[in-house]
Amino acid sequence: MARCFVTRALPGTALTRLADAHDVDEWPEPGPPPRTELLSRANGQDGLLTLLTDRVDRELFDACPSVRAVSNYAVGTDNVDLTLATELGIPVGHTPDALTETTADLAFALMLAAARRVVEADAAVRRGEWPVWQPGGFLGHDLNGAVLGIVGLGRIGRALAARAAGFAMEVIHTGRPDGVPLDDLLARADFVSLHVPLTNETRGLIGEPELQLMKEGAYLINTSRGEIVRTDDLTRALERRSIAGAGLDVTDPEPLPRDHPLFELTNVVITPHIGSASERTRAAMADMAVDNLLAALAGERMPHCANPDVYVSRPGP
Ligand code: DGY
Repeated sequence: MARCFVTRALPGTALTRLADAHDVDEWPEPGPPPRTELLSRANGQDGLLTLLTDRVDRELFDACPSVRAVSNYAVGTDNVDLTLATELGIPVGHTPDALTETTADLAFALMLAAARRVVEADAAVRRGEWPVWQPGGFLGHDLNGAVLGIVGLGRIGRALAARAAGFAMEVIHTGRPDGVPLDDLLARADFVSLHVPLTNETRGLIGEPELQLMKEGAYLINTSRGEIVRTDDLTRALERRSIAGAGLDVTDPEPLPRDHPLFELTNVVITPHIGSASERTRAAMADMAVDNLLAALAGERMPHCANPDVYVSRPGP
């Protein structure tokens, strides 16, 4: 029986399977373990089941030399030092596919919400500001016939493209083989949706120069990672309305401070990183994360390993 630290309770029943097989310490609070708690509770464990809010880095691996497998409850692994884990021979699991359709749904919902001013209109109704039907009230933009620019044509980008077909949108993208350069996409798209992972190359990918290239009536949608967009530059672009609006499920920093200037703006819709948040998907992610950990602790290849060259967990000390 191995020892595991799970950094948050997860939806569904998957953690019961882990607890049936191994000695599991589960962080009991709704928020992430503070850094000192993470370091001390991970110490002496064989496996960690982590979330995107847990930094898994050199400090953690140094402090917890017994750890031989990390299973991340997310498709993104930007919270994990993957290069170091690979050097140390530690497999890192993640949860691709499970959340593809659910996240594409949210990206599409943000396009509709931003372009049709759904949140702004709902807030007005709740304030009692619905005197009578207005010919010019809450005019937005159509998705039908608009150009959707998908930055990063991976699993979620393709799922978004499939939805766009139902709205007769023209889809352009930056992927292979028939993609367009980013600058061209930004200049042509009515909606720009970001679907690249966060890496050193994509951090700050969308800043002032890129926002300047976008059309005045265009919307920026981000369901990927907040750090891909330079928040201050986007805030300025939205304030001066050099683009029409934005739909953000992720921000930098995340969460935004309560007094952030983005909250003053009506042309941005912000959701709290809920791209994968459906009951079915979050339970499926938990199953995948547990399957990954169980496999590694049994010395087998993780079914979904983000560093696939490392598939046998190193022996404990
Ligand atoms: C991920 O999986 O990377 C999402 O951001 C959370 O589901």
